[in-house]
Amino acid sequence: MEHFDSVEQLLARKRDSTPVFCFHPQGFRAAARHFSEHFPGTVLYAVKANPHPQVLQWLIDGGIRAFDTASIAEMAMVRGLLPEAACSYNHPVKPRDAIEVAWRQFGIRDFVVDHPAELDKLLAVVGSDIVVQVRVAAPNPHATISFNSKFGAGPEQAVPLLRAIAQRGVTPALCTHIGYQTTAPEAYARGLRLLAEVAALASVRPQYINIGGGFPSLLLPKDKTLDDYFTAIATAHREARGIADVPLKCEPGSALTHRGGTVLAQVVLVKEDSVHINDGVYGAMAEMIHAKTQPPTRVLATGGEERRGSLRSYTVFGPTCDSYDVMPARFMLPEALREGDWLVFSMMGAYSNVLISDFNGLGEHQFAIVGD
Ligand SMILES: Cc1ncc(COP(=O)(O)O)c(C=O)c1O
Repeated sequence: MEHFDSVEQLLARKRDSTPVFCFHPQGFRAAARHFSEHFPGTVLYAVKANPHPQVLQWLIDGGIRAFDTASIAEMAMVRGLLPEAACSYNHPVKPRDAIEVAWRQFGIRDFVVDHPAELDKLLAVVGSDIVVQVRVAAPNPHATISFNSKFGAGPEQAVPLLRAIAQRGVTPALCTHIGYQTTAPEAYARGLRLLAEVAALASVRPQYINIGGGFPSLLLPKDKTLDDYFTAIATAHREARGIADVPLKCEPGSALTHRGGTVLAQVVLVKEDSVHINDGVYGAMAEMIHAKTQPPTRVLATGGEERRGSLRSYTVFGPTCDSYDVMPARFMLPEALREGDWLVFSMMGAYSNVLISDFNGLGEHQFAIVGD
């Protein structure tokens, strides 16, 4: 990958119109270091957020040693870079043959279930020297996207499932996913109390509690820091019934990666309050359609100088021929915006480059390292 000091320098040298995905190594390293040093437990990286090998390496450089791997391909990528990496197979629904490969080939000894049928399947394939986490659904009105509609056992199902794990001679643990970009630290405290209650009702001591991902980055409230989240978790951990000495884990994806990515997309046409650009929801902006988020955006003219002046509201369309390729939020951009300018979207390091498709033959991107 080519290396540039800044986005401005990249654009000043750019001669073609291909959209650019910029990686900022320091964004990944600093986030990894902050989580590793301040979260009151072990931090796993949820590889799905950005599995690019360079990203994995920068996160390892920042101190990450444990990984939420949800597929064999993710395990292979992580172990290829860090053979001693601690990998958990943290997907509640796993193909039987993948369980077998994870167990035999990758030596995975940590799995997740949210239903007795998955537990039966798992235990039919693997030996007993494993940890099995029960994924508990934790209701959370402060989540931008709930993670409970697809996975997660309600407390009434989680209690017998946790008991069954202990009774079948494997080591029980608990996990949840609080929900994407959770805007209130208290949601984590409530989630932790719910898991403590499940453990108490089952009369089972979990080996650990994994509070999951969901930490905010793009949607971190202005009056909060990640440390407020860590404090809420540490306080609930100390005070909740019976779990004060049970170790904690978490598995952030976007909070470790958002800051490390910037997307540069060129304006192809401006029609009144519509801007057509050459990247969209089938490209690096895929996450926006689901989370309906709007990344911080500025506009640079060809050559790299910033467009300033009064702003107006625009609908931003991506390049494909269908009407789905549009950003759900309207963007406030300079009125002086014109064809050939570049929209610079920051906080784009999560669920972005990995989702770029070649739909309509429009998937080509340039990849670059910017800053350090
Ligand atoms: C099991 C699990 N853990 C962690 C994550 C990472 O979530 P986030 O990006 O909200 O931190 C995900 C995201 O899909 C997930 O499914």
